[in-house]
Amino acid sequence: RKQSDLQIAIDGPAGAGKSTVAKLVAKGLDLFYVDTGAMYRAIAYKALSSGISINDEEKVSQIAQRTEVMLDHSDERLVWCDGQNVTQAIRNPEVSRAVATVAAYAKVRERLVELQRMEAARGGVVMDGRDIGTHVLPEADLKIFLTASADERARRRWIELQNSGRNVSFEEVFQDMQRRDRQDMEREVSPLKPARDAKILDTTGLKVEDIVTKILRLAQEG
Ligand code: DC
Repeated sequence: RKQSDLQIAIDGPAGAGKSTVAKLVAKGLDLFYVDTGAMYRAIAYKALSSGISINDEEKVSQIAQRTEVMLDHSDERLVWCDGQNVTQAIRNPEVSRAVATVAAYAKVRERLVELQRMEAARGGVVMDGRDIGTHVLPEADLKIFLTASADERARRRWIELQNSGRNVSFEEVFQDMQRRDRQDMEREVSPLKPARDAKILDTTGLKVEDIVTKILRLAQEG
């Protein structure tokens, strides 16, 4: 169990730098880091690999009920789906394309939010996602909403993909990201939006360490 019960919520659109920043904040404060996007990705991966249609809400919801998703807290941050290591697979472009559809299903969210709250019950957390401040941890001690220009966000994701050896065009990444953000913002259940009490940080042109320092300072002020 971690020393402190501090809860920090980091929300925002794709490519805003949430996971990079959240990991470092968690390290700095000795808290667990919980990547909730990875959980939605694991369900999307499972649905795709079981050959059902991603548009079949009923079937995808059943998969979410049955699937065991586990995030390990080691430095490797492995993601497990029914005992299978899916850490790499959930970053595939196919999963990225399908995940916002899956994440819009109420029953999928219900199930994953339950797991996320169980994680938070184990000790202090830095949790990143889309609805952490508004829905998963409404009582979080600190809520951050990270944003950056659409161009910079797509560029960051594109570089990430290049570095992991995936050959996709910038245009494709940009379009996919725009579509996903629109889906995340327009869905009925827990859409992407800042909590009323969130601090909004625009990270365009900022260095990771400056953002982290700022958040650590806000956490200490709290
Ligand atoms: O952060 P990410 O790109 O790994 O998120 C994957 C998808 O999951 C994204 O389309 C939004 C969705 N998501 C969500 O709806 N709620 C969360 N708490 C986290 C992610």
